[in-house]
Amino acid sequence: MARRIFVRKPLSLIQAQADQGEHGLQRSLDGMNLLLLGIGGIIGAGIFVLTGQAAAQYAGPAIAISFIVSGIACTFAALCYAELAAMIPISGSAYTYAYATLGQLMAWIIGWDLVLEYLFGASTVAVGWSGYVSSFLRDFGLEIPAALSQAPFSHSSTDGWSATGAIINLPAMIIVGLCTALLYVGIRESAKLNNIIVVVKLTVLGLFLVFGAMHVIPENWSPFIPENTGTVGHFGVSGILRGAGVIFFAYIGFDSVSALAQETKNPQRDMPIGIIGSLCACTVLYILVSLVLTGVVKYDQLNVADPIAVAVNQAGDGLRWLRPFIKVGAIAGLSSVVLVLLMAQPRILFSMARDRLLPPGMAAVHPRYKTPHILTLGTGALSALIAGLFPIGVLGELVSIGTLLAFVIVCLGVLVLRLKEPAAHRPFKAPYIYPVAILGALSALLQMAMLPGETWLRLIVWMGLGLAIYFSYGIRKASVHG
Ligand code: ALA
Repeated sequence: MARRIFVRKPLSLIQAQADQGEHGLQRSLDGMNLLLLGIGGIIGAGIFVLTGQAAAQYAGPAIAISFIVSGIACTFAALCYAELAAMIPISGSAYTYAYATLGQLMAWIIGWDLVLEYLFGASTVAVGWSGYVSSFLRDFGLEIPAALSQAPFSHSSTDGWSATGAIINLPAMIIVGLCTALLYVGIRESAKLNNIIVVVKLTVLGLFLVFGAMHVIPENWSPFIPENTGTVGHFGVSGILRGAGVIFFAYIGFDSVSALAQETKNPQRDMPIGIIGSLCACTVLYILVSLVLTGVVKYDQLNVADPIAVAVNQAGDGLRWLRPFIKVGAIAGLSSVVLVLLMAQPRILFSMARDRLLPPGMAAVHPRYKTPHILTLGTGALSALIAGLFPIGVLGELVSIGTLLAFVIVCLGVLVLRLKEPAAHRPFKAPYIYPVAILGALSALLQMAMLPGETWLRLIVWMGLGLAIYFSYGIRKASVHG
């Protein structure tokens, strides 16, 4: 058994399978598509919802520093992802990198873990989308009944789970359904819609930056780092770090680009552009938006679900015209995050099914649309169910811990491969790999350590379920030759 658990898929075999193109997926994406898909997958609930709460509760105006800290930690992981994605251009992303470096069991663990990031991530953002759509419609006098726009369960750390009286979060399920339908029909069509959405959300954030900057009151930035209240994580330096942990969610998504390697025309060149480019662009944007936000409104008034809309309101009549645009930007922004995360998930599972760790029939490709249609439908159905039933807080923390675990393994994987296959062709080489990979793994571990015990427990339960499936199915059926 031990031999099977640690069996590695030879790098040469993976590269040969990628080159053969017998997987049935269509290579239609270029570097620009990847860059925009990265941005489409990143900018969403994090900046439009969480920034205000993190500033109000933990960091104050220094939330901009939290964005820098979290951005640097993500850059370490992004460099590692970029090296592996260019070297091993397979749709399995971190799952395949782990299969090549750390062995079959680790690959399964990471593949199973990525479900938390992509499938649960899409559900989380869909719940945020539902909130914004409900509030947008309310502005026009249209009320979606709470029973049909909220989760039937809520959770608090003191009282545990309770029923809310609601039936289901229908708008959240609808956005997942729409994205799934588009993804079923084609990757090119999905990428085209994503391009339009990204232009909309960047325009809206750009308008906020330009017009918001004119309404900044510099006194709002003072003190820039509010004094710690005596409780760890509430302002001061520890508040900046706690803020960085919370807004980490805003960066999730840059890695989803790596799952599109088999549909990219020139993955060796374009993967690093998509992964690193989208992360850098969003980091700069986030820092600027958070500075303007806390400059327009005093940070202690930002503990709301729609901080940017509140800032626009508070700036007075001069800016109120921007309010509907902000909501449209947020709704568009959250839609593309759902789309990109739902795009990445079936492609990871596709690689796992081709390696027979999942039933190989799942890896069917639609004869006309050239998409992994069975997995796309299955992912959509599960994600819609989760989005309809669960509250955003519980889902969000699970997504963060799952993503961070993937970062740890990718950072370790890149090191293992440098040591075991030093001569292999690396179209993109991450600079200063030893400090970069080690700091990447350590910073992700540190952020995991700061998440609540309950989130760890859920991660352990999820992993236990995964291991049960692996030992009862995958270990017997898997074949490195696919
Ligand atoms: N980064 C994505 C968001 O903020 C998940 O919505």
